[in-house]
Formats: sequence, structure tokens, C-alpha cells
Amino acid sequence: MKRLAVLGHPVAHSRSPAMHNAALAELGLGEEWRYEAIDLAPDEFERRVRAMPGEGFVGANVTVPHKGAALALADTLSETAREIGAANTLSFEAGEIRAENTDAQGLLDALSSSPAGVRALVLGAGGAARAAVWALLRDSARVDVWNRTALRAEHLCEELGGTPVSDPEQPAYGLIVNTTAVGLRGEDPFAELPLNEAGFAAGQTVVDLVYGERSSPLLSAAGSAGATTIDGIEVLVRQGALSLRMWTEQDPPLDTMRTAARLPD
Ligand code: ATR
Repeated sequence: MKRLAVLGHPVAHSRSPAMHNAALAELGLGEEWRYEAIDLAPDEFERRVRAMPGEGFVGANVTVPHKGAALALADTLSETAREIGAANTLSFEAGEIRAENTDAQGLLDALSSSPAGVRALVLGAGGAARAAVWALLRDSARVDVWNRTALRAEHLCEELGGTPVSDPEQPAYGLIVNTTAVGLRGEDPFAELPLNEAGFAAGQTVVDLVYGERSSPLLSAAGSAGATTIDGIEVLVRQGALSLRMWTEQDPPLDTMRTAARLPD
């Protein structure tokens, strides 16, 4: 058995096992490969990851709060993971742990068109924001960054590029990406973020990385205004597909992954 897992804390809500197991079945690898969710507290993370190759694991996805720790323990890093400062994908090969970041390319793949030349607003300054800012700058967007704690946005921009903003002008952006945790526990995005419910416009693309059982209030408002909306499940599918391709060297079945990620268990 070749084992894969998502490592997080908490991780029970993750759609990754359903999504990856459906993809593995579709690829005819369902007998040989299995993907599971493993909840690891931060103080257990490194010891457990180092034991995984001996337990038949060939790779893992890493989610909150372990993306920095995953980078720190790896023997080799991709250029992308090193620059972003976070890893969401580990591969165990020939006694080595390799760290990669597929969140960045996953976001770009989820966009229906290239962000080149587009004025983009990234909300947040955590790990997810770093991947988004890195990806959008690499593809030549003009990136502004807003964060509740302004100093974190300033530090992020010093390291990666982009411009910190404190009072973004919502209609001025062609692309708005919410990477904050707002909405995860039912918070009102229009109370917590510098956005107005009526401030979206057709022609904008709005991405909300938060995904839950209900559709995000942010995307509902954007969609009502005629904006293109991309939800966190689509970005999850795209980053997962890139990880799965690295592990299996096969073309991931995107539609199967989307369907499985959206189905309730
Ligand atoms: P991740 O790695 O998933 O990005 P993180 O590093 O914990 O996670 O970052 C969470 C982000 O959500 C941060 O930008 C955080 O803002 P602060 O830096 O000010 O903490 C943002 N966030 C969380 N709750 C928020 C809220 N109620 N309003 C605005 N931003 C919030």
C-alpha cells in the first residue's frame, strides 16, 4: 500500500481525503494507494513526519498550522516553497523529505485568465496570503495587500513585494483574493474586511479561499453584482491536483476531484 495523508490541526473537516481517494480510484490506483487525514498537534509534527516513510507513506499535504514546520524539516526545498516560506506538499523519496508549495500555482490555475497587468487586492498576511502574493506577482499582477494587523502586511510586502494598503478602493481592483480566516466561523466579511456588500462590479474576479458547508457571503455578494467568483474548493482541487501529479506522475481527473470535494461525506 502506498499511503498519502493531509496533516493538519484540526483536520477532520478537510475535503482532501475524499477528493484524493476519488481521484486515485478514477486513475485505477485505488487498490494500491490510500489517502487519509491525520490530526497532529504542533509538538508532534516533526517526529510523526519523520516516521511516515517507514509506515509506507510516499507523500503528504500539509495544512494549517504546519506549513512553516513542513518547510523547516525538509531536506530539499523547491524554489517556490523557499521563496514563499511555506510548504503544503511533502514527498518522501529515497530517504529524503522534499517540500513543495502547490498553493501558489493552484491559485493561478483556478483563475480563468492570467492576472498579468491586473490590479489585485490580497486580504490577509498569513501563509495563504504569502502564496497568493508570490503567485500573482510572478504572473505580473499589480498587488496590494491589506491585513487587519497592518504591520504584518508591511513585512510581507518587504519580503515578497506588493504594496501594503490600509484603505483599499474596492472597485479599483480586477481581482480580489480573500486569504483571511474571516467566514470560517461564520464571521461577517463586510464587518471584518475593508469591503462593502454593494461594492463589487461585473468584470471583477473574486476569490474566497474559505470554504465551508454554506456558500461564502463574500462570493454571494460578488456573484450578485455579476463578478466572476472562485471558491476555496476550486483552489483546493487545483493545489491537490498538482500535488497528486507529483506523487503519482499521472494526470489528475479534475472533474472527479471537484465532485468529490463538493459532496458531503
Ligand atoms: P493562514 O496561514 O491560513 O493564512 P494565519 O497565518 O493564521 O493563517 O493568518 C490568518 C489571517 O486571517 C491573518 O491575515 C489574520 O489577520 P491578523 O494578521 O490581523 O491576525 C486574518 N484574520 C483572522 N481573523 C480575522 C478577522 N476577524 N478579521 C480580519 N482578519 C482576520
